[in-house]
Amino acid sequence: MAKVKYTKVMKCADLEIGKSAIIEVGDKEIALFNYKGNFYAIDNTCPHRGSPLGEGRIEEGILICPNHEWRFELKSGWCPQNPELSTEVYPIKVRDEKIYVRLEKPKIEEAAGSTPNTLPTDLKVNIPTVLKPRNPDEEL
Ligand code: FES
Repeated sequence: MAKVKYTKVMKCADLEIGKSAIIEVGDKEIALFNYKGNFYAIDNTCPHRGSPLGEGRIEEGILICPNHEWRFELKSGWCPQNPELSTEVYPIKVRDEKIYVRLEKPKIEEAAGSTPNTLPTDLKVNIPTVLKPRNPDEEL
């Protein structure tokens, strides 16, 4: 059985609770959040007009776009204003204090239970371009 590929993107210690990072992997930009001690990865490009979701704030698990304040559920990418504009989320695994993101959708025969692979050689990762407090009013 083929393994599901996870790409190592950064160390857990480099993304403190309440902070975010925008990570370039190949031609994708992914917004990575540490929200209340859990990591979430979501497409950085807002499906409304393309603003960087990684610069948005989070309220009660809802990511709010910094531009027109459209909302996306952090876990699922679901957009309450317009479900047709839902954005992509990426599964995450944490191993050995490092964060791994699954960038590709698994093929049907690739079942759960696989372990993270090392960084594929054809992908380039730029470590965080944004690191700032998220919504300091919210208790983390
Ligand atoms: S660009 Fe995100 S809500 Fe408009």
